Order: sequence, then C-alpha cells, then structure tokens
Amino acid sequence: MNKKPIRTNSILEDVRYEIRGELAHRAHEMERQGYEIISLNIGNPGLFGYRTPETMRLAMIENLGQSEAYCHQKGIFPAREAVVMQQQDRGVMDVSADHVFMGNGVSECIDLVLRALLNSGDEILLPSPDYPLWSASVSLNHGTPVYYGCRPDRGFLPDPDEIQALVTPRTRGIVLINPNNPTGAVYPRELLAALVAIAEENQLIVFADEIYDQMLFDGVEHVPLATLVHDTLCATFNGLSKIYRACGYRVGWVSFNGDREHAADYLHAVELLASLRLCANVPGQWAVQTALGGHQSIAQLTAPGGRLYQSRQAIIDGVEASDFLELQRPEGAMYAFPKVNADHFPDFDDQAFALELLEKQHVLIAPGSSFNVPYRDHFRLTTLPDNRTIAAVFERMEHVLESFTA
Ligand SMILES: Cc1ncc(COP(=O)(O)O)c(C=O)c1O
Repeated sequence: MNKKPIRTNSILEDVRYEIRGELAHRAHEMERQGYEIISLNIGNPGLFGYRTPETMRLAMIENLGQSEAYCHQKGIFPAREAVVMQQQDRGVMDVSADHVFMGNGVSECIDLVLRALLNSGDEILLPSPDYPLWSASVSLNHGTPVYYGCRPDRGFLPDPDEIQALVTPRTRGIVLINPNNPTGAVYPRELLAALVAIAEENQLIVFADEIYDQMLFDGVEHVPLATLVHDTLCATFNGLSKIYRACGYRVGWVSFNGDREHAADYLHAVELLASLRLCANVPGQWAVQTALGGHQSIAQLTAPGGRLYQSRQAIIDGVEASDFLELQRPEGAMYAFPKVNADHFPDFDDQAFALELLEKQHVLIAPGSSFNVPYRDHFRLTTLPDNRTIAAVFERMEHVLESFTA
C-alpha cells in the first residue's frame, strides 16, 4: 500500500513556541550525550531549587481524598472565593466566585477566553515582544494577532497613540502582560489609565495577564488593571506557577470584572468551553486558598538579600561588566531581555548567537526573535539560577561575543 505522511492542521503553520523549540531539542540531545547544559530558556522555578511553600503542598495532600470526582466546571468554590478575596483586597469589588474560572494553568484559560470570542479575522492587539502563547492562541482560534510595539528605546513601554492607531472595526481585545515577560517592564499607572481609556472607548476586552504581579523589585508599584477598568470587560489572569513556584500543579485562573452587563453571552460561551473540558485539575486547586491567604513568601525573595533580588542583580552586574551588552533593568517578573550592542556587530543574528552559545559554551537562552519582535539583537534569560551560575553564563557569553568580533 502506498502510505502517505499524516497531514497536520494547516493553521499550525502560523504557530510557534520556540522557547521549547529546536534549540531546546538540541540542548536535550547534548544532555543525552553527557554534556552539562545550563538552561536559561524557561521560567520554571522548580528546576532551579525553588520550592512551593510547604503549606500549599499540605493543603493539597490533606484534600486529596476529596479530589477524586470532577468538580464544578468553574473550579472548586474555596479556590474561586480566595481569588475573589484577593481581588477585594486590591480594591476590585465587582467580582464574585461566579465570575472566576479555574484552569489547568493560565495557559488553558488563555485558550478558553480566546476560543469563546474570536471569529475568523477578528483582531487582538498583542505586545511585541509577547509571551508567545498569546500569539499562538489567537492564531489557533482563527484570530489575527496585531502587534503594538513595546520598544527598547521606550523602556519597553507601549505607546497609547500607536495602539489607538491600530484599532480597527475588527479589533476585539487588547492583551497587556504586566509585569512583562520577557522584558521585566512594569507599567506605570498613568500609562495603564491611558490604555484603559482606549479600550473603553472602543469596547475592547482588556486581557490582563498578571501572573508575575508580586514579583517586583526596588519598590515599584504594580497596578492591577481590574482596578482601572469600568466601562468594558476586564479579564485578569493569574495562577500558582510563578509567585507560588508551583508550575507543575497546573493551576491558573481568569476572573472577569468591569462591564459584564454586555458580556453575558460571552461569559456563557466561556462557561460552555469550561464545561466541555469538564474541570481543571482538582488536587492543585486545594492549594489556592492557602497560597493567596496570609503572608506571601515571594516578598522575601524579591527584597534586597532575597534570592530573586540577588540573581537579578547578578544579571545587571554581568551586563555592566560586558563589553558588548546593554540592559533595560527589569523591574518585575523573572527575566531579563538584554540587547547586543549593534556597534560591534552590525549583522548580529540572535538565533546564530544562541546556537553558538549552546554548541560551544553549553548555555541555552531564548533568542529575542522567539517573542515576535522585528529586531534580532536581543535575547531572554531567566533570572532564576544562582549567582555563581549567572556569573559563569556571562563569562561564556563574553567568549562567544568576542569570537564574533574576530
Ligand atoms: C506571561 C505568562 N502568562 C502565562 C504563562 C503560563 O502560565 P501557566 O503555568 O499558569 O500556564 C506564562 C508562563 O511562563 C507567562 O510567562
């Protein structure tokens, strides 16, 4: 019989997730050959010795016996109620447990909210650089990503005038990632207010991805978008993966506030999709109430002397000591997005650099172009490794960059 290769869904031609793509495959292959690779490509705290707070683990263990059945499609009540209380603490008073959906990570919530919304050709405004799952989910759900720049020369902040000019009759929503992955930028209140005004005027849904909301440095303020949005729908995303270092629990959520009156059909559509996947992982949801209540240990990690603070400082120092690198200091999240100075390398190519760094120095980074930017002179590192590892990484990068000048 003349067998043909299995055809894939053609929509995947527009979908990329290079953070776990070819470079990561090559790194894995090298590890299998016995090389020790320093992998800085993924923000996965558990891989770098960060532990989930023990009380969260206990909350899950204590409730395992109650985790055997499917739960409500929106999630278990105590978890949703804990999200409501956290929102109230932040001044968001118009959310109840009915307006919170638990998912298998923020990742699943992103897919649900876009799938419920988009018709072919509908546009979503996305930051460039973006967290590439957002672009992929828009494309997979037949939408069109339209990028607004968060350019290095503006401190990676978006420009409201540019965003206003990108709005068309097909624009359905705007995604804001704050604190930002990959740049570490944290958006000031006035800027957020200007962006909300544009969203409200054009009835765009505000998708606020705030999964790094408490990973903040040097006293910078994080303003939850839900506190600013009143006249349009706001969807806030958060979860256990980063602040609570529990990526593997696969727990995230989306909560809706603002103008829900005009969103009844949409919220029904989200609920229908949530019902179709039955429910999110139940054991992990039991950790939510414990995570969100009381003292939050992330504050120690990000304060001077704390491990996240110190490793971010090590990256800042590494860039300062380099002859070839520049950096906009990250104010939040757990990434840095350095630039390679074009004076030394007019034809610099981030992919070629990342490959050389992997092959010759056994360090895996994410090239900037994986984040849907038009330039090729940036790359992303996670700030999660310890200081000694970070210092070693900068030494090795310097070797590769020096060899590029030769
Ligand atoms: C900005 C942003 N949003 C969402 C996610 C997905 O998180 P989760 O583990 O909750 O699916 C990530 C993960 O890195 C992220 O950086």
